[in-house]
Amino acid sequence: MSAAVDGAAETFDYFDLTTLTRAERYKILTGAVIPRPIAFVTSLGPNGLVNAAPFSQFVILAVDPGLLGFSVGPRPTGSHPKDTLVNVKASREFVINMVPEGWESVVQQASDDHPADVSEVDLLGFKTIASTRIETPRLAGSKIQFECVLEQIVNFGDAPNHFVVGKVVAMHIQSGLTSDCKIDPKAYSPIARIGGRNYVRLGDVVKA
Ligand SMILES: Cc1cc2nc3c(=O)[nH]c(=O)nc-3n(C[C@H](O)[C@H](O)[C@H](O)COP(=O)(O)O)c2cc1C
Repeated sequence: MSAAVDGAAETFDYFDLTTLTRAERYKILTGAVIPRPIAFVTSLGPNGLVNAAPFSQFVILAVDPGLLGFSVGPRPTGSHPKDTLVNVKASREFVINMVPEGWESVVQQASDDHPADVSEVDLLGFKTIASTRIETPRLAGSKIQFECVLEQIVNFGDAPNHFVVGKVVAMHIQSGLTSDCKIDPKAYSPIARIGGRNYVRLGDVVKA
């Protein structure tokens, strides 16, 4: 099949994002850029509490070295910064835990606005595994985890969004998922976020 289509026969609804409210811009952008993988970030609070929060504005930035980034926006109330940002600035490290099928509800619950002295890990009953290169623990049950040290934080937009960049200093992959550095996508099958409280699982793999 060719990618060519008769553009003249198509119709589109036009949007000028500057005329939308912030909530509308959020809804339309996060509904359009899908599916988004989820960085379930563990970080250490000042009192040693393990914080966990999901971030789906998440991307590979470089491979030499391996750099991953996720974007932390303001709280809906616009009040104090999110715990993850505060923790990562202070400890300069974090873990990105990839999210397996079946964690849809717990990930959603972890994103509720819990006070800084509440550990989502304890609250939701996650078990942790010690990391090898950093202090922040990983989440048991996640099939792939990246231990990261903070590389930089770059601010974008007016709110602003804080784009957190981490250098991967160790990567853990569940045994049996990888052969010669190739990860079996079906066995791995992380979930991804679409709009609102909705998630998707991996569907058909199509060879180009
Ligand atoms: C699946 C999912 C993805 C999310 N992605 C982001 C994101 O990319 N950026 C962001 O600022 N908040 C995102 N959120 C909201 C945060 O998880 C939420 O604000 C959380 O309370 C932050 O926790 P913290 O204060 O412990 O850091 C997401 C929520 C969910 C459920």
